Amino acid sequence: MLEISNLMVFYENAVALNDFSMTVQSGGIVAVIGSNSAGKTTLMNTLSGLIIDTKLKEQRKGGERITIYGKIVFNGEDITDLYPSERVKRGMVLCRERHPIFPESDLLENLWIAGYLRKKPEIRKAIDYVFELFPTLVRLKSRKAGFLSGGEQQMLTIGMALVVKPTLLLLDEPLLGLSPMMQTTLVDAIKKISLETGLTIVISEQFARPILPMIDHGYIIENGMMTLDGTGLELMENPEVKGAYFGV
Ligand SMILES: Nc1ncnc2c1ncn2[C@@H]1O[C@H](COP(=O)(O)OP(=O)(O)OP(=O)(O)O)[C@@H](O)[C@H]1O
Ligand SMILES: [Mg+2]
Repeated sequence: MLEISNLMVFYENAVALNDFSMTVQSGGIVAVIGSNSAGKTTLMNTLSGLIIDTKLKEQRKGGERITIYGKIVFNGEDITDLYPSERVKRGMVLCRERHPIFPESDLLENLWIAGYLRKKPEIRKAIDYVFELFPTLVRLKSRKAGFLSGGEQQMLTIGMALVVKPTLLLLDEPLLGLSPMMQTTLVDAIKKISLETGLTIVISEQFARPILPMIDHGYIIENGMMTLDGTGLELMENPEVKGAYFGV
């Protein structure tokens, strides 16, 4: 459903993505594993189109020059130059790393805001599903989002993305900064989403250990380049992957 060919992204003269290609089949979970500054967020922002917004903003300010080469095809359509909103309409939704949700609104309001493009009964149904997926959120319904813990905010962020009803969900480091217990909760929820909704998931992470067991295919990214790819099992058994990405 997603075909990425020879992506190159430059911030001024520094290359953040270097000839990166990958294929995502419909219905599975694909991971992009890389350490700090490997290019994970740049990849996610390039897929979702956010980088086009950033590029235009920088141009207007006369700031840094962002250059993008390569091609992104989503469900047979070349979307390389589409704005983020156009990609959302086609079913592609990104959960950003440390995403600022609406801190002054309560949890339930945040979920409703996320669904604003859809019909009310559909939003209500989607919100019910979010509460089924994350029962912890039920008693936090009327808490201001800004007062939620990091893990609770991460659950809310994923919930908000689900309310948009994506066909492709992009998760940028959803486990970042969470306790092992919270990580397990999120990994279980991601598995459940994949099984129950059949939507396709692309997840970026720094630590491979909690992620590899649930994925269909994984790509290792280093300095913006893809250095290795394989099934979850293949990557789990690879000594280089173990050495580099199985840290605490
Ligand atoms: N707006 C920007 N301007 C200049 N350089 C940038 C910009 N955004 C990212 N970079 C650089 O591009 C490279 C890739 O960054 P990116 O944020 O994509 O990595 P990452 O894998 O998401 O890292 P992390 O695990 O820390 O989130 C880094 O060297 C970073 O410094
Ligand atoms: Mg990042």
